Amino acid sequence: MAGTDDHKVVFSGKKREATSDFDGDDLIVAKKSASGHVSSWEDPVAAIASARHEFGEHGGVNMSIEASATFTVMEPETMRRMFSGELGPDRDFFIYSRHFNPTVLNLSRQMAALEGTEAAYCTASGMSAISSVLMQLCSSGDHVVASRSLYGGTYALLKHFLPRASNVTTTFVDVKDHGMVRDAIVEGRTKVLYVETIANPTLAVANVPELCRIAHNKGVKVVVDNTFAPIVLSPARLGADVVVHSISKYVSGGADIIAGAVCGPESLVNSMMDLHQGTLMLLGPTMNAKVAFELAERLPHLGLRMKEHCHRALVYATRMKKLGLKVIYPGLKEHPQHDLLKSMANRDYGFGGILCVDMETEDRANKLMHHLQNCTQFGFMAVSLGYYETLMSCSGSSTSSEMNAEDKALSGISPGLVRMSIGYNGTLEQKWSQFEKAIARMQDSGILIKN
Ligand SMILES: Cc1ncc(COP(=O)(O)O)c(C=O)c1O
Repeated sequence: MAGTDDHKVVFSGKKREATSDFDGDDLIVAKKSASGHVSSWEDPVAAIASARHEFGEHGGVNMSIEASATFTVMEPETMRRMFSGELGPDRDFFIYSRHFNPTVLNLSRQMAALEGTEAAYCTASGMSAISSVLMQLCSSGDHVVASRSLYGGTYALLKHFLPRASNVTTTFVDVKDHGMVRDAIVEGRTKVLYVETIANPTLAVANVPELCRIAHNKGVKVVVDNTFAPIVLSPARLGADVVVHSISKYVSGGADIIAGAVCGPESLVNSMMDLHQGTLMLLGPTMNAKVAFELAERLPHLGLRMKEHCHRALVYATRMKKLGLKVIYPGLKEHPQHDLLKSMANRDYGFGGILCVDMETEDRANKLMHHLQNCTQFGFMAVSLGYYETLMSCSGSSTSSEMNAEDKALSGISPGLVRMSIGYNGTLEQKWSQFEKAIARMQDSGILIKN
């Protein structure tokens, strides 16, 4: 069995422990199963490549799938020791897959490497990752300060669900206004500051280092949703305590899987898996091992995919602006947080793969999407993002429909805002000509005025 300098050769499964291939050091690496720690963290792509490569049970280049709900023990005493916490996944002892599953741990290790955190744990959806981490960090009576520019589901969770179900309340703020953030923190009661790196759908960019400074000064943990900017931004490297993901988007890239992740300190992940008090353990938003395997095959090319998403988004945003469209894209110099994003971003990956075109009214937004999908095949009318095809939706009436009109206006969501997740299918020029054709048709029919 061969390995590279970077890749320690590690076999999964207790049966392998007795073989001479498995030396003591490898055993220790194998046992840091939730940890994605790499010694020289340069950027997320390098970190993913440096994470331990897991080979299959029979020497396959891909890891085996541990498709078991439950695990056997050789001695009855072992079961008691596992339940008491004395023997755990760090020593290759597994109880039950809602708790820890080796294949899910392998994906979790990749996610921890991606975000440069000590550990990570993968879940059945992005929402379950978000709700579980918030419920772990907050108890009844606690308070959250959150950005008012958030994915609609997260907004509804904080605004409606958590106050009812857990007596955890939220103050929504403009995170660009650091004074407002500071004033909203109630010392002793506020436990979490919650933001999205690049907000859905407004594409406002959060100043992660400064927000972390403000929060940490008051003993508040910072939880950052990095769904819109994997690879591009590394919030934990900028000071965030916890990074959450909807893996369903860019990390998956296939628009075929719903999944999520919590990336953070090992102590947090362990607390979330605690048999008595852990939200992941007790609410059970468990990822299936077969899903974890599928996703683990996609992490190695996430960097390449992000580069192309970002490249095309920048080219299209620049050209759309020239056509006279009202484009919002943080890669454009005139975006209010362009310099901030540049100062925080990992080098050479770009500024995100999402852009917005503000058509001002829902009717004009719908007409644009109709032409782009049904007349010229530029993309699909669908929510979500990170797919190889371009996906378009009118956010105000879809993924932000949970917000009332006032909150939408406050967060800057115009009724005609069309969010586009730029794909990389086909050639850049082929797709651009489809976009131009749709615009020309709209101009011919008087919906858009020629520039
Ligand atoms: C920024 C963001 N966070 C979280 C979620 C929720 O993720 P999931 O659909 O995987 O539960 C979404 C979208 O659905 C999102 O856009």
